Amino acid sequence: MEPFRYHVYVCDQQKPEGVPCCTARGSRGMIEDLRREIVSQGLANDVQITTCGSLGLCERGPNMVVYPEGVWYSGVRAEDVREIVDSHFRHGRPVSRLAITDRAALATEVCANRDLYLASVRARDAAGVMPDELAQSIRGFQESRVILTALELDLFTAIQSGATAAQAAAAAGTEARATEMLLNALASLELVRKEGAVFHNAPVAARFLAAGSPDSARMAMLHTARLWHRWSGLTECVRTGTTVPDDERGAEGTEAFIAAMHNNARQRAVPLAGAVAAGANRMLDVGGGSGAYAIAFAQANPQLRAEVFDQPAVLAIAQRHIREAGLEERISTRVGDLRTDEFGGGYDLVLISAICHMLGEEENRNLLARVHRGLVEGGRVAIQDFLLRADKTGPRAGALFSLNMLVNTRGGASYSEEEYSAWLREAGFGEVRRVALAGPAGVLVARRE
Ligand SMILES: C[S@@+](CC[C@H](N)C(=O)[O-])C[C@H]1O[C@@H](n2cnc3c(N)ncnc32)[C@H](O)[C@@H]1O
Ligand code: FES
Repeated sequence: MEPFRYHVYVCDQQKPEGVPCCTARGSRGMIEDLRREIVSQGLANDVQITTCGSLGLCERGPNMVVYPEGVWYSGVRAEDVREIVDSHFRHGRPVSRLAITDRAALATEVCANRDLYLASVRARDAAGVMPDELAQSIRGFQESRVILTALELDLFTAIQSGATAAQAAAAAGTEARATEMLLNALASLELVRKEGAVFHNAPVAARFLAAGSPDSARMAMLHTARLWHRWSGLTECVRTGTTVPDDERGAEGTEAFIAAMHNNARQRAVPLAGAVAAGANRMLDVGGGSGAYAIAFAQANPQLRAEVFDQPAVLAIAQRHIREAGLEERISTRVGDLRTDEFGGGYDLVLISAICHMLGEEENRNLLARVHRGLVEGGRVAIQDFLLRADKTGPRAGALFSLNMLVNTRGGASYSEEEYSAWLREAGFGEVRRVALAGPAGVLVARRE
């Protein structure tokens, strides 16, 4: 028996601008409406939606095929969605006015379009034209820059209640014509909607990019905006092999950096605490940043007392979070230099999250030796960081992040699991094991023998 009654393949193929495709004809919005309608009619467990590549009717999309019957719907508009869900998926009656009934004509059209497509691929190849995907990767900075500039100028906040370009420019202190060009580009990226002359945030921008929303990631994304400038120096860093780090972030830069770390920790801290916190009584969080991990660990384990070790400006932010969590009694802070200081003793758990990538190999060996000295017999160290494959060509997020360290630090990099294991054993740890957690970073736990 099938796990669901209907399996719907909906085309969301995007083609180069000017070439007909379902995406250009509104398939993404229609798919969202379809998913919403299926849930609202209580059919989430009956209907499986799978987005797919071109179905071969590109000039009259959005297109979809419904199995098990194999009913093809073409030119589906937002206003057709409710009828399809109600009539076909709920009552088993396909919507005949939208369904393609002439199967022979359908096959002819699909095959003709496929032949045209293959001919155009061969013609481009023969003419030596670069593949679109490669061209898009090379130009990818344009989209990124548009969003970062809007964040830097706080334009998403300026239009949160709807604004013309002139009103947004007045709020942001920018020039009106240029602001309109930027807002138009944001509309092309579907982060903003333009109604007449008035710009509104799309739901995703209203929630995550405007200041003041409970889930706003604007401050964290301003850290990414700062990274942009560092990445501009990548060519020179590769020539020279290193960089001069920007150690003076200033109050605003520190706030953005720690907000970015806190934003990452939102997804990671609770599962990591679930996997590692049990059984610990005294924890040290080396370079603990916003305190998000110490807080999650203390919440997961009522016996635990934790200490967040970091620089003074960062600890001021951590103390704010610890206070907000009501955990001042169990989480303390300590100012220190993780590159050189001894950590003291008596800890049975040391967390090193997103620290090792800032350091060179020798510095990491030295750090792990000091952590080893700070742990009681049988105590554990947990390292959370990007863990590369042995050949260092992936996962992609880790390989790219290694360059982030090249442009931002003197000797930092992403390292492989094998490298971490070797350093841990060398420092006197045994029983190195990897903890399976979802997400781009990996976790290794080792025990002091
Ligand atoms: C990438 S953040 C990681 C923060 C936190 N562990 C997390 O995973 O969210 C690096 C942290 O190390 C701290 N740090 C950097 N250099 C340090 C040093 N020399 N001594 C103490 N803390 C340092 C930074 O202030 C920052 O909080
Ligand atoms: S792009 Fe959707 S059918 Fe071709």
